Amino acid sequence: MLALHSRAIFKYVYASALFSVCILLFVTALVGQESNSANSATVNHRVEELLKNMTLEEKIGQLNQVSAANFLNPPNREELIEKGEIGSFLWSVDPVQLDRYQHLAVEKSRLHIPLLFGYDVIHGFRTVFPVPIAMAASWDPRVPEKAQSFAAREARASGINWTFGPMVDIARDARWGRIVEGAGEDPYLGAAMARAQVRGFQGPQLGTADHVLATVKHFAGYGAAEGGRDYDSVYLPETSLRNVYLQPFKAAVDAGVGSLMSAYMDLNDVPAGGNHWLLHDVLREEWGFQGFVVTDALTTNDLIIHGFAKNESDAAYRAVSAGVNVDMASRILAGQLGSLIRNGKITVAQIDDAVRPVLAVKIRMGLFEHPYTDLSKTSAVLSDPAAREYSRIAAQRSMVLLRNENHTLPLSKKVSSIAVIGPLANDGTDLDGGWGVDGETPAVTVEAGLRSKLPGATIAFARGGEIRRTIPSRFDDFLPGGKKTPPQSAEEISKEIEEAVALAKKSEVSVLVLGETANMSGEYASRSTLELPGRQQELLEKIVAVGKPVALVIVSGRPLNMSWANAHVPAILMAWQPGSEAGNAIADILFADANPGGKLPVSWPRGAGQEPLYYSHNVTQYPESDPMYRSRYWEGPSTPLYPFGFGLSYTTFSIADLRLSKTELKAGDSLEATATVTNTGASGGDEVVQLYIHQRAGSTSRPIRELKGFERVALQPGETKTVHFTLGKKELTYWSEAHKSWVEEPEEFDVWVGNSSTANLHTAFRVLE
Ligand code: BGC
Repeated sequence: MLALHSRAIFKYVYASALFSVCILLFVTALVGQESNSANSATVNHRVEELLKNMTLEEKIGQLNQVSAANFLNPPNREELIEKGEIGSFLWSVDPVQLDRYQHLAVEKSRLHIPLLFGYDVIHGFRTVFPVPIAMAASWDPRVPEKAQSFAAREARASGINWTFGPMVDIARDARWGRIVEGAGEDPYLGAAMARAQVRGFQGPQLGTADHVLATVKHFAGYGAAEGGRDYDSVYLPETSLRNVYLQPFKAAVDAGVGSLMSAYMDLNDVPAGGNHWLLHDVLREEWGFQGFVVTDALTTNDLIIHGFAKNESDAAYRAVSAGVNVDMASRILAGQLGSLIRNGKITVAQIDDAVRPVLAVKIRMGLFEHPYTDLSKTSAVLSDPAAREYSRIAAQRSMVLLRNENHTLPLSKKVSSIAVIGPLANDGTDLDGGWGVDGETPAVTVEAGLRSKLPGATIAFARGGEIRRTIPSRFDDFLPGGKKTPPQSAEEISKEIEEAVALAKKSEVSVLVLGETANMSGEYASRSTLELPGRQQELLEKIVAVGKPVALVIVSGRPLNMSWANAHVPAILMAWQPGSEAGNAIADILFADANPGGKLPVSWPRGAGQEPLYYSHNVTQYPESDPMYRSRYWEGPSTPLYPFGFGLSYTTFSIADLRLSKTELKAGDSLEATATVTNTGASGGDEVVQLYIHQRAGSTSRPIRELKGFERVALQPGETKTVHFTLGKKELTYWSEAHKSWVEEPEEFDVWVGNSSTANLHTAFRVLE
C-alpha cells in the first residue's frame, strides 16, 4: 500500500516536473524568439541613434580601413582615430599598438565608437593548423571548425577582432596559387567547409567571447582566373556562378558571416569590387546579407587600373554605388566621398546605408561594451598546449595516402636507420605553409618528428639541393619564409644530391620530403607547370634507383605532377602543409599511430596541361567511358591521376547495400539513401562515404556527377555502420540557364555511393510531375 502510494506520488511528481520543464522550454523558446527580434530592433535603434549624432566625416570614417603596419599608412593615424575618421585597421599583430589605438577611439573620439582590427588569420595565429585545402581534405567539417576556433581565440587574445577568412573560392585549376587557401573544386564540400569555418571563427553568433568577426572572400569567381594566372580576368556564365562558385558564399551568409570581401579581378568585364549585380542584387536583395562588404586590399584603386573608373572620384562613386561598405587600405573613399556628396553625385542617405551594417556589426560584436583585450592573459592563451594538440590531430586527419604498393607503409618501428631527404624535410616555415604571422610557431620538422618517434634509430638528414621561386614573391619581405640567401650554384646542388644518394644507400629506408616552399603557393604564386620545382625530380629518381624502400611525402599547397612517382615509388603520402605539428603528424602516419583517412578535395592532374580539371563536368557526345573515345588527348589519358574524393587507408573497407526509401517522389519531397560501410581489414580506420547524383535529362545539360552527401566514419576491424543521406529539394534544385531561375525538374536521377567520385554502387529514382 505504502509502495503503491509512493509510486503514485513519484508518478505525480515526475509528471508535474515534466510539465514544468515543457512549460519552461516553451517559455524560453518564446522569450528567445522575442529577445532575438528585440535584439535586432535594439541594434537598429542604436545604429540610428549613432547615425543621428554623426558628422559626415565621422560616417565616412567608418568606411575607412587603414594600414597599421609600416607601409601604406597615413602618418597621422592617432589624430585621425581621435577625430573618428578611421573605422578599422589591418595588418598589425602588435597587441600593445592595437590596445593603444582602441583606447584612443573609445576614450578620445567624440562618439566613442570602437575600432575593428583585421588580420589574415587563415589557418592559425600563434599555433599553425594545416592549410585550408588540407583541412578540406579531412572531409570532416569539425576539423576546420575546431581549428578556426583555436585560431580565433589566439587572435582575439592578441587584440585582433576580425579575420579575413574563410576564403571559399572554388578552384578547379591547380596552377592557380590560391588553391591552397580554399576547399578545392567542389561546391558541396566547399559549402560545408565554409559553414564550419564561419562557426569556428565567430562561434554560434557574432559577439561570442574569444571569437572574431569572420570574412567570407573573395566575392566572386576569383578561382577561375584565366590560365590559373593570379588576378587575371574571369569569365563565368551565370549557370557556373550560381551552381558552383557562389554556393560556398551563400552557405557562409546563411551561417551568419558578419563581413564579406569583394574580389580583385574582372568578372565578366565588370570588376568584382564595383559589381552591382554581385554586391547588391545577389548579396543584398536575393540573399538578404546583413553584414558589411569590405574591398580587397586597394581594390578601389584597382577600379582605375582595370580601366573601369576614370579617376579616384569615379572609383569611389562606383564602389559605393555597387555596394561596398569598407575601403581596405586605399583611403579613396575617405578622400573622395565628401566632394561626391557636395557635387550631388552621392547622397547622405547612401552614405548612411553604407555605414549602417558596419555599426551594426560592431554593436552585435559587443565591442561598445567590451572594446579592450586583457593583455595580462595573452601569453597564457598563446601558450595553451590544447591548440598544438589539436593541430596534430587536424594534420593527421588531413593527410591523403595516394599510393601504397605491397604495404610499404606503415613503416616498422623496428627500422634501425632512416634517411630523411629533401629540401622541405627540415624547414619549419615551409611545413607551416603560407599566410604566416610574425611570432607563429615554426613547425616541428620531419627529421625532429621521426627522431621523437624512434629515439633509438639512426636518423640522418640530407637536403638534396635547395628550391626557390624563379621570380621572387612580392610578399617575401613581409611574410616569414622568403629566401634571403644567394641562390645555390648548379654544382652545389649536384653535390647535395650526391650526398643524399650516399645517405640513402647506407640507410634502411628513405623518407623523401618533396614539394613546394610556402611562398610557391598562395597569392601571387601561380605556375605554368606542376612539375616538382628545382631538381627534385632528379633527386627523386636517383633515390629510387638506390633500390631501398622509399616513402615519398609531398609537402605543398597544390597537387603536383606525380606521374613518374606513381609508376615508380611504392608509397606516396600527400601531407599538404601540415602546420605547427607537421613532423610529428607525418611520423604518426608513417608509423601507423594514426591511420590516414583524408580524401582529395581536388582532381589530381597528371600534369598542368590537363588544367582546369574537375570531376563534375558535363557529359559530352563522346564520353570517356566509351572505349572508342578513351581520351581527349592523343598522347595520354585525359582522366586525373587520382580522382576527386580518393584516398587510401592502412585498412580496407567495403561499401554495400545502397537503398532508397522510395524510388519515386514528388518535387519538394525527400527520400533517404542508406548504405553500409564495413571495415574489412585488420586495423581501425576512417572511411569517407560519398554520395553523388546525376540528373539524366532536363531543361539544361547536367554534370556527369555531383557530390550531394558525405560522412567520415570511424570503424574498428569487422565493424559495420549504416550511413544515411537525405535527397530532397535542396539537393535536387539547380539554377537553370534555360529558365533563368532555380528549378527542381521531374526527371530521372542516378545515385552512386562509394569512397571517391568514381564510386560505382548505383541505383536510381525519379522525381514525378
Ligand atoms: C588578399 C586578401 C587579403 C588581403 C589583406 C589581399 O592581397 O587578396 O585575401 O585578405 O590582401 O591582407
